Amino acid sequence: MTSIAIFASGTGSNAARIIEHFAEVDDIEVALVICNKSTAGVLQLAAEAGIPSHLLDRSTFYHQEEILNVLSQFRIDFIALAGFLWLIPPYLVSAYDGRMLNIHPALLPKYGGKGMYGMHVHQAVKAAGEAESGISIHLVNEAFDEGSVIFQARCQLNADDTAETIRAKVLKLEHRHYATVIEDYIRDVVMSDLKNSDGGVGS
Ligand code: GRF
Repeated sequence: MTSIAIFASGTGSNAARIIEHFAEVDDIEVALVICNKSTAGVLQLAAEAGIPSHLLDRSTFYHQEEILNVLSQFRIDFIALAGFLWLIPPYLVSAYDGRMLNIHPALLPKYGGKGMYGMHVHQAVKAAGEAESGISIHLVNEAFDEGSVIFQARCQLNADDTAETIRAKVLKLEHRHYATVIEDYIRDVVMSDLKNSDGGVGS
């Protein structure tokens, strides 16, 4: 079994889609939800799906490596960030090098980086009068939104679109693609890497 941890801090609509998707897959499971906000909807969602969750504390996350023990305890092979806003610390980037994906609600490298999250992204796209927007799914490195992009999908925009309608178009693409891109990536890259190594953190 290959095990995924989802890191999320918001409403968790992407987390919900990912959980739903992998509930139908035999050899890959969502084994853990990691969250940094006690009021986040995603915690409720995890509880309803019977998936354990872990609430992160900021100073522990940045100054100790306790989270590696948690990930190891749940034999986590792969991390999917889905609306997780904290920068991933170097020790975690290196422990999951090539095994951590994020989804960004714009066509990177445009509209990424610090401060570019949520409605800020769609407002910037609207202000620039872009004719299209979309999603970018990328590997996670030590900078916000700078890891290699492995997948993009686009939607057309028109003059009538507002930041809110852009958000809705983009979210639809997120829900359509993120879970299947994660599954394909795990099958094509992560499973063979784990086979060729000593099994990695999650073995
Ligand atoms: C999504 O737009 C995603 O691209 C971004 O954060 C948002 C999370 O939304 N990284 P949700 O909590 O999954 O609904």
